[in-house]
Amino acid sequence: MLRVCLPPLPPFLFAALVVSGLASKALHIALHIRSLPFVYFILFSPTLVLPDLVVIAVTRLLLQFSSPETRLQWISTYIGGFLSLITWGASSIQFGFFMQTGAEVAWAASNSFLSDPAAMKILLSGITTVSAAATALGLVAFLVHSRLYNFTGLGLQAIRDLCVGSLEARHSIPTFSSKAWVASANPQSLRRITVAAAACVSLLFLELVRPSVPYDHLSGALPLTLLDAFRKTSATVDSCSVAANPFPFGLPPGFQTNSSVADPWSRPAWLPQNPPAGFSRWHLSPEERLRKDNTSACGNPQGKLFDPKNDPLKISNLGGEVLEPLQKAFKDHSVHVDHVVLLTLESGRKEVFPMQQGNYMFDALLDSHRKYKQDQAIDELVRLTPVAQMLTGERATDSKGQQVNLSHAQWQDSAKEGMGGINIRGAVTGSSLTFKSLLGSHCGVHPLPVDMLEESGLEIYQPCLPQIFKLFNEVKSQANSTNTSTNALNYPWKPVFMQSITDDFDRQNILNDHMGFEETVVRNNLRSLYGKYRAQGDEVNYFGYAETELRPYLRDLFDEAAKNKTRMFLSHITSTTHHPWGTPDDFPEEQYLGNQGDVRHTQMNDYLNTVRFVDGWLGEVMSMLDEAGIANKTLVVFVGDHGQAFAEDDEAVTGTYENGHISNFRVPLVFRHPQLPRIDIAANATSISIIPTILDLLVQTQSLDERDSEIASALLPTYQGQSLIRPFVPAVERHPMEQNYTNAAIHARYSPEEGPRVQPVWNFGLINAGGSMLSVTTANDPYRLVLPIKDGFEYTFSHLLDDPGERKRMKAWTLKDLIKSVKPKYGDEAAAWLQDAEQLGKWWVVEQRRIWGYQES
Ligand SMILES: *[C@@H]1O[C@H](CO)[C@@H](O)[C@H](O)[C@H]1NC(C)=O
Ligand SMILES: *[C@@H]1O[C@H](CO)[C@@H](O)[C@H](O)[C@H]1NC(C)=O
Ligand SMILES: *[C@@H]1O[C@H](CO)[C@@H](O)[C@H](O)[C@H]1NC(C)=O
Ligand SMILES: *[C@@H]1O[C@H](CO)[C@@H](O)[C@H](O)[C@H]1NC(C)=O
Ligand SMILES: *[C@@H]1O[C@H](CO)[C@@H](O)[C@H](O)[C@H]1NC(C)=O
Ligand SMILES: *[C@@H]1O[C@H](CO)[C@@H](O)[C@H](O)[C@H]1NC(C)=O
Ligand SMILES: *[C@@H]1O[C@H](CO)[C@@H](O)[C@H](O)[C@H]1NC(C)=O
Ligand SMILES: *[C@@H]1O[C@H](CO)[C@@H](O)[C@H](O)[C@H]1NC(C)=O
Repeated sequence: MLRVCLPPLPPFLFAALVVSGLASKALHIALHIRSLPFVYFILFSPTLVLPDLVVIAVTRLLLQFSSPETRLQWISTYIGGFLSLITWGASSIQFGFFMQTGAEVAWAASNSFLSDPAAMKILLSGITTVSAAATALGLVAFLVHSRLYNFTGLGLQAIRDLCVGSLEARHSIPTFSSKAWVASANPQSLRRITVAAAACVSLLFLELVRPSVPYDHLSGALPLTLLDAFRKTSATVDSCSVAANPFPFGLPPGFQTNSSVADPWSRPAWLPQNPPAGFSRWHLSPEERLRKDNTSACGNPQGKLFDPKNDPLKISNLGGEVLEPLQKAFKDHSVHVDHVVLLTLESGRKEVFPMQQGNYMFDALLDSHRKYKQDQAIDELVRLTPVAQMLTGERATDSKGQQVNLSHAQWQDSAKEGMGGINIRGAVTGSSLTFKSLLGSHCGVHPLPVDMLEESGLEIYQPCLPQIFKLFNEVKSQANSTNTSTNALNYPWKPVFMQSITDDFDRQNILNDHMGFEETVVRNNLRSLYGKYRAQGDEVNYFGYAETELRPYLRDLFDEAAKNKTRMFLSHITSTTHHPWGTPDDFPEEQYLGNQGDVRHTQMNDYLNTVRFVDGWLGEVMSMLDEAGIANKTLVVFVGDHGQAFAEDDEAVTGTYENGHISNFRVPLVFRHPQLPRIDIAANATSISIIPTILDLLVQTQSLDERDSEIASALLPTYQGQSLIRPFVPAVERHPMEQNYTNAAIHARYSPEEGPRVQPVWNFGLINAGGSMLSVTTANDPYRLVLPIKDGFEYTFSHLLDDPGERKRMKAWTLKDLIKSVKPKYGDEAAAWLQDAEQLGKWWVVEQRRIWGYQES
């Protein structure tokens, strides 16, 4: 009986390969079809399936023995079966991934994933959809297996007969007279041969003439595309030398472009004998550094050094006066910053910090409700994040236009009216991959444009906050005379990192170490028998616990800061707001979304619940600072690591992975201090402004002793970001170069007739996982380009004033095609901007590799 039910294995495996391969190809093309010109697509479509047909034919030949007997037959069947199973599996993963995120799997990035246990857990979280896809594909294969197998067999036989026939025909030619040849051949088979030859020739022709972008990418067939995982892309430009990657525009006067004319190197006076890691740029001379790194391959001792004076994109605002309301506060010496807390909000979208009316996301949430229920929905939603309202000073209004009563909040702000600190509107993150974003907020650096946290193997090119604080400690331990222990400015700093989830994911523990954190509290401490406090609840997601498990650790740390003569630097990352948005069991889940529209609103609803949960947690942290009595001396910086795009933003693609949507980039940025006047700043800054702002604040509020203040002032101008306690400069006018530069490549594009050129602040944002797309914006234009930095991704343009929610993104496979559709709609200015953005983006990608000293292995 069993033998009747089970299909013979080879035909079934073959059918699985055909069904999976073709389904995967259909999905692949469907994901890109909107950006393909219709006529060309139809024309080139036969070439798109050519690799699939070859794979199918080869596998059919391998599996031609439906009951293998000899050893050779067995081997051939094994190979064919192996190919089929791989294709079936890969296609199932693709479909599962697509159903979860709407995106495509990039096999090239899978390498780093597979060697990472925490990353594997992420993959396994989608196992149900993957198994569902596998079952569906298997079922279809089962239904068609025998017919498909026989049919393909007949097809291949026909082709063979045709070839053999033509060969025989040719062999039987006695003379080279065409007449004799025609006569000897069977006219029917001759016609067939002609048709087949014509088809082959035209296919070959199409294959040759089709544009490589995007059709090469589109024609990729499973299982061949899996080989991407083993392929190393090689840098196209020699990433060591500046001259090989010239800055695309003219450079301002006085700019250092020739490394040999740079300032003679000298060790700064403030640098202690044994500075902490992170300061090697200051204490190693270029020659010493070269010896240490042994980068002689680059042949340029300056090649690997980041030099702030040689950063053509840097626009400093340190020449500006401190903002007026702050000047007054600083004059009274009423602001003390003894402690600093850097609180990173996981998946912290600006639109939910605080949740309020008047943005496209709120409107999308309302659209999920029926008209008559919308007022009630507004009143519920605006009460979601009371703590965020107090922290930012952005007070939400309810359906009647009245300010929301915040008495239900977990914390009440004791700052006086008009006080509370600096709130930035318009901030964007430097990367939608969390750890790359942390590099910006903790170290003031731009990330490396490659997949995953490759930065962990390299030296971070600027000192990170913990390292600066450790430097202060080092200086004080050497200068014994000034230590009067009654002076709080002399207390040692203590940098601590806390998160309730694992730090094993993608080498985060190494990153923490490199940033200078010696003390960390992570999931291991919460779950270890020897941990100081063990977690009370269960894990809420595949990374670990809810952040509330850190409560006793935080309380101890705050108490120690208050009582033990230490200055605290705490970095804390929230965790429940991460996919899949689980909350502790005792947290009541609310229903915020209705059921209108095409989208099933479950993910967004789960996210909003975690947002409410985290708002309560932030209130708790603020209360603990109050209780410890250090709130008045603590600067708390809130920043989102990145946003989070949902189906409500773009039905097609959700999540951060390889998704350039703007919802993944807008983040809150707040510098909270109860003694600072409340200031609202509209600026398209990024998280690289955090270090300069903190250093500037420490100096201006006289929260550092003389020596530390001198050091902080010396470090401040070396960071690439602007200080946000001074007026933000979105663009400067750069005048033609007056100096005679010898490096022709650098000013090849520059023509003096152009006159002064407006140079904006360029904001670059790397899209998760880092190596495929780059978001390019400027601080004074409404345009946005998502630039592909790897094959297989499209150019995307959006106009953020016209379309703040990016509902009408324009996509094309080449910049030329994109400009063709952007120009009629938004004019020459937008077209010119796009051209600049592309050039600068490409330049930046190479420049980052040089600055980081990254060489692909
Ligand atoms: C640039 O560097 C080269 C090689 O060291 C040197 O010969 C040349 O004089 C320098 N150019 C200027 C303008 O200093
Ligand atoms: C770098 O190392 C190689 C051997 O590993 C050595 O031959 C070479 O001299 C070194 N270069 C420098 C600049 O130290
Ligand atoms: C806010 O609500 C609380 C209780 O719900 C009430 O006692 C208080 O008066 C309200 N405040 C305002 C300003 O309406
Ligand atoms: C830039 O800032 C303005 C407010 O100043 C804001 O409206 C705009 O959305 C910001 N751009 C981005 C990309 O966030
Ligand atoms: C610190 O004390 C040591 C010996 O007590 C002395 O040699 C050194 O000069 C002092 N350092 C400073 C900066 O005063
Ligand atoms: C200053 O001296 C006091 C006591 O002598 C000591 O506890 C404290 O750690 C010292 N501060 C620094 C920064 O070394
Ligand atoms: C207070 O500081 C000292 C020296 O830094 C340390 O040994 C001690 O453990 C600290 N006490 C607490 C309660 O943290
Ligand atoms: C902070 O200082 C203000 C006065 O400047 C005071 O009213 C408030 O109670 C202080 N808060 C804490 C938590 O010490």
